[in-house]
Amino acid sequence: MISPPLCEEEHLQSLIAAFVQKLPGLQTQEALRHCKSEFLGKKSQLKAQFRLLKDYQPAERTQRAELLNRIQTYFEQALKDQKDRVIQQDMETALAQEWADLSLPGTLPEYGAKHPVAELEKRSLALLRQLGFEFVDGPEVEDPYFCFDALNIPPHHPARDLQDTFWVEGHKVLRTHTTSVQARVLSEHPPLPIKVASAGRVYRNEAVDATHTAMFHQIEGFWLDQGITFAHLKGILLFLAKHLLGSQHLFRIKPKYYPYTEPSIGLDVSCTSCRGEGCDACHDNGWITLMGAGMIHRNILTQFGYNPEQVTGLAFGWGTTRIAAQWLQLSNIKSLYEQDIRLFRALKRRSL
Ligand code: DAH
Repeated sequence: MISPPLCEEEHLQSLIAAFVQKLPGLQTQEALRHCKSEFLGKKSQLKAQFRLLKDYQPAERTQRAELLNRIQTYFEQALKDQKDRVIQQDMETALAQEWADLSLPGTLPEYGAKHPVAELEKRSLALLRQLGFEFVDGPEVEDPYFCFDALNIPPHHPARDLQDTFWVEGHKVLRTHTTSVQARVLSEHPPLPIKVASAGRVYRNEAVDATHTAMFHQIEGFWLDQGITFAHLKGILLFLAKHLLGSQHLFRIKPKYYPYTEPSIGLDVSCTSCRGEGCDACHDNGWITLMGAGMIHRNILTQFGYNPEQVTGLAFGWGTTRIAAQWLQLSNIKSLYEQDIRLFRALKRRSL
């Protein structure tokens, strides 16, 4: 480290002393810049001394100029040394703080989770495939004939009400159920046995509440052949429901009405949110209807040229959305369509 020049003049001595005292406290480049302008800048005391040189006698002037130059060189060199130290220290601190152990395992990027409705649709179709059902797709913008008339839903039926249905230009409807695919397939008259499943979006002009949305997902299945009975239907429904929701739940079959099946039934599960106590998710019922089903109505069979004395069929449909909500114990199905990242985080944590 450079040492301060010696000098006898009291004024210059105290200037050097002030500098020496300040120097070790200069720990940032900013502080160093301030100090440089204080001791070496145009307005500094040292520069004022240089300006006074012209008033000295030539002999004395040379001596004094030498002294001032030594002081100036000392200030410059000491500041430069201190600056090098500060740079070195900054570097060491940065190296200590930014140190990384390259042998550690990396941080994994956050992966998304499959949407529960898509996942459930995939599982449902896989189960149906196991039972021999073949997948058929159908249009969402549908001819009302396939959505209603062909399914024994006459023009005056309330299911067609403007309140319930979205009508589209050209006298088309946004299909209100995937049962329309049943009518489409039968209208093509494929050879028996017909064992078909279909999945997709359906639309209803619903007031949105805990269990209803204007768009949701359904799956439909039907099986037409000689000798199909209600026992087949019951077996299929319970197989599906137990595999999808778990056999620990209570299920019940109850009579229902659908225009396209006779007899018609509903399959209920005891609410998975409240375990039957009653809550928002089940409208305080304790039970939630998962599936609608029945034996295909003879009017439909005859309409499409099948003899109901020889051929019988079973049909069933369910809301994938509603089952997904039960599966995840969601009290509000709307959250399945709200892109809430918390739902997907919860999904990832669950092993579905
Ligand atoms: N289409 C019915 C619904 O949207 C579900 C359904 C009920 C489908 C009975 C069927 C059936 O095939 O036989 O709620």
